[in-house]
Amino acid sequence: MDTIIEFKNASKTFGGVAAFKKVDFTVKPGEIHALLGENGAGKSTLTKVMSGVYRLTEGKLLFDGREVDFGSPSDALKSGIAMVFQETNLVPAMTVAQNLYLGEEKIFNRLRGLNIQARQFLVGMGFQVDPTAQVSTLGAAHKQMVEIARAVHHKARVIIFDEPTATLTPEEKRHFFNLLSRLVKQGVAVVFITHALEEALQVADRVTVMRDGEIVASGKAADFTRNSVVQAMVGRNLTETLHGSAQRTPRPYGEKVLSVENLSCAGLVRNSSFSVFAGQVTGMFGLVGAGRTEMAKVVAGAMKRDLFHGGEIRLFGKSVRYRVPRPAVMDGIVYVTEDRKLDGFFETMTAGQNLQIGELSNGDNPFSIVSLSRAKDLVADWGSRLKLKQISDKARMIELSGGNQQKVVIAKSLIQKPKLIIFDEPTRGVDVGAIVEIHQLISELADQGMAVVVISSYLPEILAVSDRILVVKRGRVVEEMMVADATEEKIMFAAVH
Ligand SMILES: Nc1ncnc2c1ncn2[C@@H]1O[C@H](COP(=O)(O)OP(=O)(O)OP(=O)(O)O)[C@@H](O)[C@H]1O
Ligand SMILES: [Mg+2]
Repeated sequence: MDTIIEFKNASKTFGGVAAFKKVDFTVKPGEIHALLGENGAGKSTLTKVMSGVYRLTEGKLLFDGREVDFGSPSDALKSGIAMVFQETNLVPAMTVAQNLYLGEEKIFNRLRGLNIQARQFLVGMGFQVDPTAQVSTLGAAHKQMVEIARAVHHKARVIIFDEPTATLTPEEKRHFFNLLSRLVKQGVAVVFITHALEEALQVADRVTVMRDGEIVASGKAADFTRNSVVQAMVGRNLTETLHGSAQRTPRPYGEKVLSVENLSCAGLVRNSSFSVFAGQVTGMFGLVGAGRTEMAKVVAGAMKRDLFHGGEIRLFGKSVRYRVPRPAVMDGIVYVTEDRKLDGFFETMTAGQNLQIGELSNGDNPFSIVSLSRAKDLVADWGSRLKLKQISDKARMIELSGGNQQKVVIAKSLIQKPKLIIFDEPTRGVDVGAIVEIHQLISELADQGMAVVVISSYLPEILAVSDRILVVKRGRVVEEMMVADATEEKIMFAAVH
């Protein structure tokens, strides 16, 4: 038995447009198979067919040599195919343990037993997650761990991970990759979608690259280099790279737009002070969970009010304290969320309608009405600036690929014409080509005089976009440096020690 999954001449169309077409693709037991490609290439859709979310429009899917046609994800799971989705799929109002054993309600009755069992299981996987915690209180990384644990618990023979590592700390990543190698040793087949190309080449046995819904390259990981993958992905050589900061002269300090003094919040932010200046990009580096998101959310009024303990926030010297985002937006502060599915957009509306909502919320539209033609103009304009790719203008946000959703979230924030804009992990889930575009856009905003903050856990990104770098550790800004003086080692040292 050398293949467990086989697609033969397979296509999937939505409203007559192909998400992927005429695909031949195999997965073998005991291998890690990386699936790569630009945003909208068709990766998630292909794996969603394997896991029972969608059915093929044409062609065949074989599992264990037999043709299958799963009607639902639970059908696929019963056969032994589990998928950890790009956007988390857990039930927020339930605890970690309840999510882990979802569908096995008979053991729900013994709550204590359930929690003990869950704790043992999680510890065994090297995950530090409290089984009694409600999932809605968990950060992205921990949610991801619960999903991974769920797939493992179901003893799946094929496990598909859609961008699993984007939210993990280096330490958690190590655990995750160890876990993968344990799984494949037991004969499990792993399909692994990622935009972190070096990582993919390191851990994968085989690599398949998709472009515009077709497979353009496939083979042993050892036979690929980062460059050959990128070239296959985009069909040309990408000359721009992320690393280019050292030669760049940092932008000078403009007016002090924001100053935060002794901010404390819910034990996550502890007596933190920092300032942000106009016409500059301030990078905020820290490990996942360091408290960067919470600092940003307090500033932008996106944090629950009862969690705010104390400190002073000044915008252009004036003391402010926002309890909801709207007045912050009116004063020119916009926070671009890391958790796009939860609070980035309205998922049943189109991209154009979402952009229009961005426009309405800055009070610039004198009519305050939603018009179809305006939505169209906005999409045409921003869509071409950010190379938005969607099947049609009528597609709802949930029908867009993950990276394209992120682009809409960014565009929507820019339409609000902020004076201070805070990007939280702006390129998570975005492909190599689009990352360069988003970085360029961030750079232009600073050139136009905007105060820009970029929160990122990805060091090359911080070095590529920042003029000034703040390092955050355990709820506090612990170090500040200009990019010219910064090195990866220096920043990492400050973030960890
Ligand atoms: N339910 C749907 N309805 C309509 N179009 C869809 C649907 N799901 C996906 N598509 C479209 O199919 C194409 C492929 O999307 P897919 O999500 O597979 O891309 P991807 O390779 O996973 O991209 P990313 O890296 O951004 O996650 C996109 O153009 C997307 O808009
Ligand atoms: Mg995807």
